[in-house]
Amino acid sequence: MKIGFIGCGNMASAMIGGILKKGLVQKNDIIVSNLTEAGSKRSREKLGVETTMDNREVAKKAKILFLAVKPQFYEEVILEIRDLLTEEQILVSIAPGKTLKWLEDTCGCSMKIIRLMPNTPAQVGEGMTGGCCNERVTEEDAQKISEIAGSFGRFEFVPERLLDAFSAVCGCSPAYVFMFIEAMADAAVAQGLPRSQAYSFAAQAVMGSAKMVLETGKHPGELKDMVCSPAGSTIEGVRILEKAGMRSAVFEALNGAAEKGKRL
Ligand SMILES: NC(=O)c1ccc[n+]([C@@H]2O[C@H](COP(=O)([O-])OP(=O)(O)OC[C@H]3O[C@@H](n4cnc5c(N)ncnc54)[C@H](OP(=O)(O)O)[C@@H]3O)[C@@H](O)[C@H]2O)c1
Repeated sequence: MKIGFIGCGNMASAMIGGILKKGLVQKNDIIVSNLTEAGSKRSREKLGVETTMDNREVAKKAKILFLAVKPQFYEEVILEIRDLLTEEQILVSIAPGKTLKWLEDTCGCSMKIIRLMPNTPAQVGEGMTGGCCNERVTEEDAQKISEIAGSFGRFEFVPERLLDAFSAVCGCSPAYVFMFIEAMADAAVAQGLPRSQAYSFAAQAVMGSAKMVLETGKHPGELKDMVCSPAGSTIEGVRILEKAGMRSAVFEALNGAAEKGKRL
């Protein structure tokens, strides 16, 4: 089974890395296209997969065809390949804002279409990917895609109407978490810790806290309360964060990202 990627930048490379690591297919079962020779060279050297600069070659060879270019190039790329698309192929879109209806209309043929929304932690096998599909996708196809998306982290199907919300919580939020880690590290440096240790200490604290939410099944509020001893230093920090409107800022950021996603 050949898997094709039109566009092989950050996100496609992360997904291919997971697919190869899990051994779902061999390197020579993957073909990717890039816009530039430099992009092709990067994909060959980093991933060892077959490369081309001809999107039509990828569309012809792939049974599962990922579109992994920036959303603004989707239409141009689909128009370039659409006469080659067949009902047996599965087209996978990873762009925000490009609905199943838009994809079906632009492809102009009745094909199997899946929307996936991965995130950059996929690069380290800890992605959180959401997805939805049109009614032509069979259970067997959905199973295959679950296996692929599960190779670079967790995967769940969500209704299409919730995909923009999912995308804000999982696709965009790594940026906000990185900002949080950076801010924690700056404070650590202000308190005298060396810069190099400050980042790894802050990152490990965030990773451990996330793991506690996932593995204990406890409410995040309960876990927070467990850290706050009466009249202690942690609750003083909680007071300062609440005064600064931290919860509201996070709420607004994710809401804004979800609304913007709908307009892309
Ligand atoms: N990054 C994220 O966190 C994230 C999360 C979820 C979804 N996504 C979606 O994933 C998609 C890809 O994002 P990315 O971050 O991976 O982008 P990226 O790193 O900029 O990669 C884009 C790739 O597309 C190639 N390309 C551009 N125009 C092309 C064309 N006409 N034909 C063939 N290839 C072309 C580029 O080739 P060259 O290198 O040769 O220029 C490059 O390999 C986007 O739709 C984005 O919205 C991204």
